[in-house]
Amino acid sequence: MYKNSTFISILLAYLSYYNISIAAEDQPSAYQAIRTQLEQEFKQAYPEQIIANGEVKKLELVAAETQWGVFPPYQTNVWAYNGQVPAPVIRIQLGDTLELKLTNRLPQPTTIHWHGIRVPNAMDGVPGVTQPKIAVGESFVYRFTPKDAGTFWFHPHFNSAEQIERGLYGVLIVEDSNEPQYSQDLVMVLDDWLLEKNAQIYDQFVTRHDLAHDGRWGNLQTVNGRHQPVIPVTPGERIRLRLVNVANGRVFSPAFPDLSPQIFAVDGMLAAQPFPLNNFLLSPGNRIDLDITIPNTYAGKKLEIINTFSRKPTRLAILQVAKNAPVETPQFKPPQAKHFPNWLKAAYMPVTQHYELDAKRGGKYGISWTINDQAWPDSTTQTLEYGRFTRIRLSNKSARLHPMHLHGQFFRVIARNGAVERENFWRDTVLLKRRETVDIVLMPIDKGLWAHHCHILEHAEAGMMNMIKVE
Ligand code: C2O
Ligand code: CU
Repeated sequence: MYKNSTFISILLAYLSYYNISIAAEDQPSAYQAIRTQLEQEFKQAYPEQIIANGEVKKLELVAAETQWGVFPPYQTNVWAYNGQVPAPVIRIQLGDTLELKLTNRLPQPTTIHWHGIRVPNAMDGVPGVTQPKIAVGESFVYRFTPKDAGTFWFHPHFNSAEQIERGLYGVLIVEDSNEPQYSQDLVMVLDDWLLEKNAQIYDQFVTRHDLAHDGRWGNLQTVNGRHQPVIPVTPGERIRLRLVNVANGRVFSPAFPDLSPQIFAVDGMLAAQPFPLNNFLLSPGNRIDLDITIPNTYAGKKLEIINTFSRKPTRLAILQVAKNAPVETPQFKPPQAKHFPNWLKAAYMPVTQHYELDAKRGGKYGISWTINDQAWPDSTTQTLEYGRFTRIRLSNKSARLHPMHLHGQFFRVIARNGAVERENFWRDTVLLKRRETVDIVLMPIDKGLWAHHCHILEHAEAGMMNMIKVE
C-alpha cells in the first residue's frame, strides 16, 4: 500500500511501526495534517449524542437462582435473569430510553454492564469505578438512551467469571426506524458450560487450570441456553441471525456448511460492506449479524450450524427447514454503514498507547494476568484525549488468547503483527492470538472512565484490566 505514497509517508509509517517516538513539539507537521484528515473522515460515522424521543421503556429484571434445562432431561441449578437463560431479549427503538430496574436476589452482590452500548459513564456497571455493587436484596435502576442501533448484550461486571458462567446474560437489540424487512430476526446466544454428573455446574471458579489456560472452557456448548436446539425455518426465508458469544473463554467459529451467510454487522455496528462468513472468530464478547437465505430447494432438510474453532468441529444447532412451499424471498441490499471512514492513512500515525499483555506470579490467585506488568486493581489509569484520533498497539507477550474489550468506544483494526490489515468494520472486542500484536484506531468521543480488559473472564478476574479515561 506504500507504492503510491510519497517519501514522507513511507518515513512516517516506518517511524510509527517501530514506534520511534518523536516528541510532540517535534512532530512533523505532516502528522498533524494527516490527523486532521482522519478526524474529518470520522465525522458522522456514529453520533456523539442522541436525542431521546421521549419513549421510556420500563423493565424489571430479577437476578436469582433457578433451574434450567441446559441438557434435558436434567435440570441444572443456574443463576438467571427473570428465570430464563438467556434473559428475555430486550428490544427497543433507537431514541427510546431504557429504564431497567435490576433486583439482586443472588447470594452475592452484582451489577449489569451493557456490553458495547455507549451509555453515560454512570450506567456502565463497573463496581467501584462507575457505581457501587448492588448488595444482596437491593435494586438499582439503569437508565440510558442508546446512541447506536444493533445487537448488544448485558452481563454482570462483578465476579463475572462465576456469574456469567452460571447463566446471567441477555441480549439488548436496538432497532433503527428503517430496519430491512427480513422474514425472521433470530438471536443465537452461544455459550458453553462445564457440567458434572447430573448436569450440575462445576462450582470451582477461576481455578489454577483456567488461569493457566484460556479461561474456563466447558464440556457442553449451548445456543440460547439449550444444547443443540432445533430451530424451525421455511424455504425462501431471508433471515437476520444475530450471534452473540457470551462464553467465559471459548472462541467460536460458526459455520453453515449448506449456506452462504454474509456478515453485515460486527459488535452491533453495520460494516462498510457485507462480507462472507469465512472463519470469522467470534471471541467472548463479540457479536455478528448474518444475512442468510434458505434456498427454496431445501424444503424438509436439516441444516447444521457448527463450530469449527477446535480441531474437531461440534454441532451448535440445527435449522429444520419446513416441508412447506417456499415463501417469497424479500429482496433488498443488506444494510451497510451510512458513513464509514476509510482512514487509509491511519497506519501512518504514531502509536498513542502501547499495552503489553502478559502474566506474572503472585496476586490473589497465585497467577496474575497483566497489562503493562500491572494487575487490576493495582494499575495506573490511562488517558485518551477526547476527539483525538488515537492508535493503540496491543501486544500479546503470552502464549494464551486475549479477546481485549474496551468499554464505551468502538475501534478498528488496522494492522496485525506489523502487516496492514484493514478491517472494514467497528469492533468493541478483538482477539489476540498467542504472541500476536494488533493495532487498533479509534476516535474517543464518549467521556468517562472506561474499563479495558480481557473478555476471558478468568484473565480479567486475575488482573487483566485497566481503566482508560476519556477527557
Ligand atoms: Cu462484556 Cu467489561 O465487559
Ligand atoms: Cu486474556
